[in-house]
Amino acid sequence: MSETKTETKAKGGFGSKLGFILAAAGSAVGLGNIWRFPYLASDNGGGIFLLVYLILAVTFGFTLMVTEISIGRRTGKSAIGAYSEISQKFAPLGWLASAVPVLILPYYCVIGGWVLKYFTTFITGTGTAAADPSYFGTFVGTSDSFAGVMQPVIFFAIYIILTAVVVMLGVQKGVELVSKFMMPLLLVLIVGIGIYTLTIPAEEGKVGAIDGLIHYIKPDFTKFSLKTVVAAMGQLFYSMSLAMGIMITYGSYMRKEDSIESSVRHIEIFDTAVAFLAGLIIVPSVFVFTSNNPELEVGLSGPSLMFKTLPMIFETMPFGQVIGVIFFLLVALAALTSSISLMETVVSILCEKTHMKRIPACLIVLGFSLLLGLVSVFGFNIWGSVLPLGMDFLTFFDFITNYVMMPIVALVTCILIGFVVKTKFVEEEVESTGTFKSRGLYRVMVKYVCPVCLVAILVYGLIETFAPQLLA
Ligand code: PHE
Repeated sequence: MSETKTETKAKGGFGSKLGFILAAAGSAVGLGNIWRFPYLASDNGGGIFLLVYLILAVTFGFTLMVTEISIGRRTGKSAIGAYSEISQKFAPLGWLASAVPVLILPYYCVIGGWVLKYFTTFITGTGTAAADPSYFGTFVGTSDSFAGVMQPVIFFAIYIILTAVVVMLGVQKGVELVSKFMMPLLLVLIVGIGIYTLTIPAEEGKVGAIDGLIHYIKPDFTKFSLKTVVAAMGQLFYSMSLAMGIMITYGSYMRKEDSIESSVRHIEIFDTAVAFLAGLIIVPSVFVFTSNNPELEVGLSGPSLMFKTLPMIFETMPFGQVIGVIFFLLVALAALTSSISLMETVVSILCEKTHMKRIPACLIVLGFSLLLGLVSVFGFNIWGSVLPLGMDFLTFFDFITNYVMMPIVALVTCILIGFVVKTKFVEEEVESTGTFKSRGLYRVMVKYVCPVCLVAILVYGLIETFAPQLLA
């Protein structure tokens, strides 16, 4: 045990409970909150989806996050070391969990590069150009000129280098400091544009923001089914950055005297609040725009929402160009704290396994991720015709991590904690700072409910991808 302690110290840790909460919330709040959650909510029954999501966050999400943070803090190690310390038989699970951030980091930074490109476009006063429906395709998909091919490479490289600089600065001086500054700023920006977009008056005889708001929060039971519950679970799981070793690593940096239970409560509130607020901006804007321009075909989620539809909306909105600058800054902040958590996790694993110092480990991870990220970049331009499982490379990496590896990691983790080492492994760690208020709930969730939910996510994801006709 004393050896574990010195190791934890040697690798540094968060200096305060707030720093830990904001860094973990920084990881959780990311592109998923902004480009997926609003769409899922508005498409799956508005208020009723919001309610189900909230209930799942405080039960399902809570359980998985408490589990990972406790594993990290109790062992003082990152995923590989942590799982093998708990049980040698489960060591491969640590490797599987660690492979997830290794695969996600590169493509997440490719998307971060796209966000930077749009931020640059808006801040240089050329946001109008981004409203052209071909702007995004030209940016990512030009393959017949060297300059065209290199543009997304350059933005990707700048973005990932920014991420690496923060990670090189260390846990307290990099990750924690940046999160403490960026997360409050993000909150202010999102509330600010939320109020602005909701108060834009409707034009004579046209649909206004308030109609969009009603569409977002009013429950519509006709659009609600079991499918939507599974969709909410999948979203929650990704949104809270679970099953990829991140929360284990961050847990290993957490101070022994801080309460895990209350920290997780704060993190889930933060994550859900940002998702809800993003919806308050996006759903009414999209609703007004599409109702008033029914002839336009626009994307409502994912890259096409963010990089095509929203620039068109900013184009028609009063002060839309300024809102565009603030919006893409906000998205960049949300994405950066997430990519930082991914890189920090990979670096910590490498340092632990090889006893390497932080800076060289960062450089190795940076170099490797640059190379692997290029595959995703080129998948849209020069390698556009190579389609693993019928997907472009970025979608392919996203698919195998989110739909296959992550649910498996979380499922096996629940089995390990629920039935092999028993829930006391986690409970003792949570109780080290006081009573575990939700202990009863935790036990039932980790042993029975979470495994069922995770199997549902896994099966549903596979069917959705390979046999969507079964869901129609
Ligand atoms: N939780 C992040 C989001 O909601 C996604 C993420 C995934 C972040 C993987 C880091 C790592 O967008």
